[in-house]
Amino acid sequence: MRRFLIAGNWKMNCGPQETSTLLQEIENIIGNMPEAVDGLVCPPTISLTTASVELQNIEGLALGAQNVHSEDNGAFTGEVSTEMLNEVNCEYVILGHSERRQYFGETDKTVNAKVNKALNDGLKPVICVGESLEQRKADEHKLRVKKQIQAALIGVEDEDASNLVIAYEPIWAIGTGETATPDQAQEMHKMIRKEIADLYSDDAANQIRILYGGSMKPHNAEELLEQPDVDGGLIGGASLKADSFTDIIHIAE
Ligand code: G3P
Repeated sequence: MRRFLIAGNWKMNCGPQETSTLLQEIENIIGNMPEAVDGLVCPPTISLTTASVELQNIEGLALGAQNVHSEDNGAFTGEVSTEMLNEVNCEYVILGHSERRQYFGETDKTVNAKVNKALNDGLKPVICVGESLEQRKADEHKLRVKKQIQAALIGVEDEDASNLVIAYEPIWAIGTGETATPDQAQEMHKMIRKEIADLYSDDAANQIRILYGGSMKPHNAEELLEQPDVDGGLIGGASLKADSFTDIIHIAE
């Protein structure tokens, strides 16, 4: 049975001092993660070292990055390597977030190169997929997400499936307060899981965790997490508030 994964994507928030404060607030509320739920926080790069130290006090809450380069090192100003993320004990890395696709020229091709690099170097990719409002209105949302999945997983072997996380994040629900309905989320998650079964195997499809992202909050988390193919959340705004983030963790218990 898949364990829930409740993940926080902090985006461009929380420098080192705020990172310490937020993680200490989370620790004060929950101590350690509940036995049945995996947790993940993804601070901005500048705060990863600080977070790595603070997370030594919160068992079950893993550290992730929000991006990584597909090369080992070199003349890539502003970038960070898998070796550097491993050095600060990152276990996961978010790849292909719609904001990176929209603002920083991330493409299906660059996402795929990063997915393979991350897996090769011991990091678990959290691969973000999701349609725009225009694509949903044109009934192109399923095709768009299928193509993103297929492109992201080129060259990825079946045995890596257990180290993969996919986050379905409808762009129209990110930061808008307009959340996908449970039925909408389940329909897309079920389709994603079938796509994994078609690309790999039923076993791989049953192992992979598919998170929902897009205005998940304490008031709507339960109805989303009740869906059979929703294995957790990738949470933005609500993960920046210790009480909201821990409320969602308790709802997942
Ligand atoms: O990666 C998660 C993020 O895109 C969702 O943001 O603020 O809608 O929870 P938010």
